[in-house]
Amino acid sequence: EMDRFLDELIGKMTLEEKVGQLTLLTSDWESTGPTMRDSYQEDIRAGKVGNIFNAYTAGYTRDLQKLAVENTRLKIPLMFGYDVIHGHRTIFPISLGEAASWDMEAVEKSARVSAQEASAEGIHWTFSPMVDIARDARWGRISEGAGEDVYLGSRVAKARVEGYQGDDLAATDTVLATVKHFVGYGAAQAGRDYHTVDISERTLRDVYLPPFKAAIDAGVGSIMTAFNEYDGVPASGSKYLLTDVLRDQWGFDGFVVTDYTSINEMVAHGYAKDLEQAGEQALDAGVDMDLQGAVFLEHLGDSIAKGRVTMDQVDTATRRVLEMKYRLGLFEDPYRYADEARQEATLYKPEFLEAARDVARKSMVLLKNEGDTLPIVAGAQSIALIGPLADSKPDMIGSWAAAGDRQTRPVTVLEGLKARAGRGVRVEYAKGASYEFADASKTDGFAEALEVANRSDVIVAVMGEKWDMTGEAASRTSLDLPGNQQALLERLVATGKPVVLVMMSGRPNSIIWAEENVSAILHAWYPGTQGGHAVADVLFGDYNPSGKLPVTFPVNVGQAPIYYDMKNTGRPIELGAPGAKYVSRYLNTPNAPLYRFGYGLSYTDFAYSPVSLSAPSMGAGGSITASATITNTGKRAGAEVAQLYVRDLVGSVTRPVQELKGFEKVMLQPGESRTVTFTLRPEDLAFTRQDMSHGWEPGEFRLWIAPSSGADASTPVTFTITE
Ligand code: IFM
Repeated sequence: EMDRFLDELIGKMTLEEKVGQLTLLTSDWESTGPTMRDSYQEDIRAGKVGNIFNAYTAGYTRDLQKLAVENTRLKIPLMFGYDVIHGHRTIFPISLGEAASWDMEAVEKSARVSAQEASAEGIHWTFSPMVDIARDARWGRISEGAGEDVYLGSRVAKARVEGYQGDDLAATDTVLATVKHFVGYGAAQAGRDYHTVDISERTLRDVYLPPFKAAIDAGVGSIMTAFNEYDGVPASGSKYLLTDVLRDQWGFDGFVVTDYTSINEMVAHGYAKDLEQAGEQALDAGVDMDLQGAVFLEHLGDSIAKGRVTMDQVDTATRRVLEMKYRLGLFEDPYRYADEARQEATLYKPEFLEAARDVARKSMVLLKNEGDTLPIVAGAQSIALIGPLADSKPDMIGSWAAAGDRQTRPVTVLEGLKARAGRGVRVEYAKGASYEFADASKTDGFAEALEVANRSDVIVAVMGEKWDMTGEAASRTSLDLPGNQQALLERLVATGKPVVLVMMSGRPNSIIWAEENVSAILHAWYPGTQGGHAVADVLFGDYNPSGKLPVTFPVNVGQAPIYYDMKNTGRPIELGAPGAKYVSRYLNTPNAPLYRFGYGLSYTDFAYSPVSLSAPSMGAGGSITASATITNTGKRAGAEVAQLYVRDLVGSVTRPVQELKGFEKVMLQPGESRTVTFTLRPEDLAFTRQDMSHGWEPGEFRLWIAPSSGADASTPVTFTITE
């Protein structure tokens, strides 16, 4: 039925009407780049634009929808897109933080709530999930993804797509998802945003592509091209990526949208001589929709007239876009998502706020807890709360919280601690320091902060980066605490009082001084609208922290890029005596990171049994199971993320020293044990072999189940894949 409807509709459309469907323009609400067309409303009326982003609320989207439906010849409804990244109105922790929960139900829940709120405000389509693997903390957009790992990243991608899209795109409380940015964006050289990417085909296939494939397997309806080039060709002009890989190899049947003006940018890249050629290259490569560039709108007609692209190509792209509008139910009722009553009843529902608080506490990672400094015993201790992030509403929700209320709704740490501490406990606040780069040598707030610190039992320093120091166009060449925070932290430690550092930031920071000198460190990312309550839940022990790092924290920026599944090299450091020369190491810094991927502490302790394998080997079509028993040996209930790692000892190409192949988060009461069991098939150990084919190779493998990467809690066992 849909096919017949679309055939008929496309049969009636003029070239201009078709190109309108391939065009996505911003409203005048906000944008992250140049505004190419001043009068988008005129364009809607004229049928020149079929899709709008940066417009929401039931009322506004209805008004715009009216312009299209009542003025254009074919009454084709608009599709409204928006950057709903980690929450719409109720803001959840930043995406990297959510990944740190290693809790796929929590990740899916966040996307589900986002879809409910966004769709209630007339939004049909979100530009999420961002699944770019990121291994360089200098890159600001590391905050938007799921971190450095292929396996975890793929699981998160699937959970997010399922959360947004549900199992029915036509349901009015689901939204169409976009997996982005296709592809390799996270490999920007030196961590500088939009910079050149130069990675091997093998790395592309084994590291950067899999999370996209996972999203596509989960049914994602659209994909966004990246700003960067791959192998010398800008992604928005890459037929190899957009047609060979995406359509021919993967069978993707949704539509491809570009990133913001990225067709136009092919001119600056030096790949197209002018916009007309850029548009031709993009359409020819497999782009269906031009986001904000207006290149299709302004030039595709000429390109068709000159015979440089065909009407068939335009029809194919038009069909893909219209099909999604059909699946969203827009042809049935263009206004079905614009419902004020539903909007009123949906935004900031108490259960959404509760979910945001829950996901936030699950995302936090306890990095250090010397002498059980944490949890703080409520009622027994007075607290000095210090730092630029301790009572700052705008910072709580991080970057890309586009429709999030930054000024009034977020609960700060001060508010959260006060609400929890109860009567009789003193929580005294002094900002003390600044995170602004320009304030590095100032000391003006120090005296007040030290006074407050000196009359308290415990100091909680909430420090890190300003919310917009990560995200798009927010790369750094230092991973240190910005401004004068480090200097104040040193003075606070010098008081001799226990210092708890609560970090808020969207990237791994090199906080080695803190690791060596403060009593406890909790990484809280940007925890969202309910963040202050969630921090209080963890600090007071109402919630036992269970997050694990989805990215490696380097000792210093010089180690970047650093990630847990590196190669061994021909001269691994272990081959030499300590301090030996001519092995792969730095003179001034250890090779090991500050905190490993997968690392995170709890208020209780967990013991791991030796691993048992169901069989010593497997062959084609077979499988093997690996299990270990985890016991809560401490005094509090807590959740542990048990992680399965494998090392392929010899390959036709060199293999990483460890690869995550499974994880399970288990909740354990004190004294309780649970056995985690993972099934592995030869396919799970596949990679891009020397001849570029994808598959596994027979041979010997090492396997272990552990609380983090590189951890030796579990002695490796070996198994083989037989010929
Ligand atoms: O979705 C975003 C993308 O991640 C970065 N450039 C702008 C797009 C639309 O706002």
